[in-house]
This record gives sequence, structure tokens and C-alpha cells, in this order.
Amino acid sequence: MPTKDQSGARSGRKMPDPFALVVFGASGDLTSRKLVPAVFRLFCDGLLPDGTSIVGYARSNKTDRNFRDELRKSTRATLTCKGQPVDDKTWAKFASRIHYHRGSYDSPDDFTLLKRRLEALTAENGAPLNCLYYLATPPEMFGPIVLQLGRAGVAATGAGDGTWPRIVIEKPFGRDLPSARELNRRVQLVFDESQIFRIDHYLGKETVQNIMVLRFANSIFEHLWSHDYVDHVQITVAESLGVGSRGGYYDRAGALRDMVQSHMMHLLCLVAMDPPVALTPDAVRNEKVKVLAALRRIPPECAAGGVVRAQYAAGRIDDAEVRAYRRTPGVSETSGTETFVAFKADVDNWRWAGVPFYLRTGKCLPRRCTEISVHFKDVPQVLFNRPPAGPLPPNVLAIRVQPDEGISLEFQVKAPGPAMNISPLKMDFGYQESFGSPPPDAYERLLLDAAIGDATLFARCDEVEAAWRFVSPVIEGFSQDNCDKILEYPAGTWGPAEADDLIRADGHQWHLR
Ligand code: BG6
Repeated sequence: MPTKDQSGARSGRKMPDPFALVVFGASGDLTSRKLVPAVFRLFCDGLLPDGTSIVGYARSNKTDRNFRDELRKSTRATLTCKGQPVDDKTWAKFASRIHYHRGSYDSPDDFTLLKRRLEALTAENGAPLNCLYYLATPPEMFGPIVLQLGRAGVAATGAGDGTWPRIVIEKPFGRDLPSARELNRRVQLVFDESQIFRIDHYLGKETVQNIMVLRFANSIFEHLWSHDYVDHVQITVAESLGVGSRGGYYDRAGALRDMVQSHMMHLLCLVAMDPPVALTPDAVRNEKVKVLAALRRIPPECAAGGVVRAQYAAGRIDDAEVRAYRRTPGVSETSGTETFVAFKADVDNWRWAGVPFYLRTGKCLPRRCTEISVHFKDVPQVLFNRPPAGPLPPNVLAIRVQPDEGISLEFQVKAPGPAMNISPLKMDFGYQESFGSPPPDAYERLLLDAAIGDATLFARCDEVEAAWRFVSPVIEGFSQDNCDKILEYPAGTWGPAEADDLIRADGHQWHLR
């Protein structure tokens, strides 16, 4: 267990100024399952100042009271599952800060009314007019909402009184490079880059933030972290769930847009980047952008040969039958959308030349597990690593992003006894065991950071575009291809055999299997 000093002394966080969190898409799943439970936890932990309020904005007609009742139920359901019961008295205090505003996303009048309501509300609370606008709507609405915010004048800075407007934009940020550029252009017409927080909840996960700490707060790893000692790196983001009720969205997105362009690119950047000169938002993001710039492009004509792309068919997971992706509500019966991808990425810079990064993600795989494993080079074939005994397994540093968050190091030891028998062993660190509780939800950290104005864990405009620059040609390559040809894998398996062949061709196998 870390002592109070070790764990607490560096953790002091600035309290944000009182603010109004204005959530567009207030009737959606994200608001009820993620955002409000996260804000409630911040409230319980005393991290929100008096005068902070939540204003839900959506098209449906409901009163403040209806909205609060719905949120009480959903928050209770979400947090109880995580072993965090909701106390009635605390909820009642929190709920008095929640309001609902009905409006459409393209009506100037509705946005003017919203502006007046925010002015009245903050004045009533004795709070300054600081607003954190959160776009939790389907992505088609991002542009229209930003336009209306601009027209209503709510985004204007320089009121001279120190108040701030900021905007948080959910993923997916664009559908490809041109649309991401266009969205950046539109948002920047209204907000300054310093006010824009492009959110990717993976960056709020404790285990993802810990990648930088592991690498740069310890002296033993960084010297080994290059082509001199690393043989290859694997990143797997496996989900056992299918697309659930999100068939309509997912069928237009697919794994490349939904997972690779965002979550997986961030993981890759954090593992591959050079040490930033400081822990400031720009210094960190500069290094991430350099990794993306060094990523070797897979041109459209090479996509089919270089990327394994597949869709789940009917199968079984944990003894439950799972229907085929194409039979999911909202999904076309002839859909060619991928629910699985695997590919090899090359980071063409001095540090990583010749070190392949294998990335793989999929839905309806046997279990939920996100892991980054760094596989070190074999020891020379002298002393222990010689025939006739088989080759020694290499050292592997595995970062378990979720679940069972932790880190393990696999290495060789002499098994006790008279003979020189070598046996693989694992040294393991688990968050739950070491810190007594599982890590907090990513949205808690990210909402707090946005309220404080710290953009380190949010994507900058050039970072989003650089990630699209890599993913867009691959998507383009497949759209030229005949979609009927998409590979299939039974739900509950680790994807198609071609994904195993991809890594086997280089003499490796997937660490998670
Ligand atoms: C979301 C994707 O961004 O991340 C979902 O849209 C995916 O399709 C989810 O299921 C995974 O998040 P987590 O935190 O459960 O790994």
C-alpha cells in the first residue's frame, strides 16, 4: 500500500471555478450512464464548488423534475453495479442543481432562450457565467450546435470579467480526414483552440495515464524502450459485448472509425512517444503528433492485403447465444461493416525503426480485455538459450488497461532443484490490491480537467487530423473493395484465422488468447 505521502502529496488538484455543465443530447445514454454518474461522484468527493449546476438540453419535452427522476434511477443503477451506493440525502442536494431545457439543435430562438436561462441560473446561484458545453449528441449534430452557440454569442470570450466558455466534443470527430478538417474549421470559427476539448475517454483511464508514469517516472524502462531491446509491441482492445442498441450508429462507423482512429491511436502514441519536455498540454500533445506523423501509411490499394477486417457471425459467449452482427436492430442485413480489425503498424522513426506494432480490436470476442504488451528481444543463444532445449520465452511487460487493471513482467527463473531447469515467472502489480479500490471512471477525471481548463488528456486539432491521415486511406481502400467479401468470425472467438496468420507470419503469436 502506498503511504499517504506517496499517494497524496502529488495529487492536490485545483478546484474548478463554479460552472454550468450544459449537456446537449441530455436524453441519451451517454448522459445517463456516464456523464451524470461521473459528475455525481465528483460532487460526493467534494471536487465541485458551490454554484456548479447541470443543464440538460434536448428535444423531448420534460420538466426539471422528470429529468431529475430519470437521472436518479440511471445514476443509482450505474453506480450500484460498481459497488458505489447512492445516498438519498446526497442525491437530493445534487439533484437540486440539475435543470432541463427543451430546444432543438438548429433553432436560433431556442439557443437565445438557453443563453437567457444560463444567465438567470448563474445569477441566482451567485456564480460567474462559466459554461462547459458538452456535445453528447449524434455526431451529425456537432456542426449545427456549434453554429447556434456562435450565433447566440455564448461562446464569446473577453467579457473582461474572467468568465469562460469551453466546449467538449465527443468522438467520433469526423468520419474521415476531410470531414474532421471541416469540423475543426467550423468549431474554430466559434471557439479558440484553447477552449476546445476533444474527448476520448480512454485518455481518462488511470491505466492509460499511468503509461507515461511507468515510462518516465522510472529509470529502468526508458533505456530499454526502443529498437535496441524491444522486438515488437502488441495492443489488443477486446470486447465481449456486441453493438447492443447502437446498431444504427455502429453500422455507419465500424471498428476502424469507432476504435482505431481514436482509442487505439492514443494508446499507440503513449507507448511510442518520446519524453515530452514538460507535462503541459502542448508539450505532451506535440510528442503524440510526432508519433502519428511517423506512422507508415497503408495506402488504399494495400488496405486489403495489410489489414484483416472481419464481422462477427452467430456464436456463443459465456454459454449465451449471440446472434450475428447483421441481425442486430439498426444494422443492414447485408452490412459490410467491420466489427474486428487487426493490422501491423510501423513507426518510422529512429527509436522504433524495424519494431512492428500489432494492433487488434473486436466486438463479441471471448472476453473484455485491453492490454498493451511490450515483447523484448531474445537473449543471445549462449548459456541458457541454446539447443537442444527449446528457445526461452522472451521477457514481456504487459500493461492491463482493463479489467483487472495492473502491470505484469514475465521473466525466467531457475526452478529450485539440483538441475538447471528454467521456468517462466510473472511479477504482478494490481491496482485493486495495491490501492484498495478499482480506479475511478475515466469521465470523472476528464470532466474535472475540462472544468479546470487542463487539455493535456484531450486531443488537439492536429492530433485528430494526424490520426485520420493514417486511418482514412485504409477505410477508403475497403470502400473500393466489394464489401460482401468481408471475413467472418463466430462470436466468442478471437477473430478470424487471418488475424493469427498476420502475426504468425513474423514468427509471433498474440499474447492474449
Ligand atoms: C466507445 C465505442 O468509444 O468505447 C464503443 O464507441 C466501445 O463501441 C467503447 O464499446 C469501449 O469503451 P470501454 O471503456 O468499455 O473500453
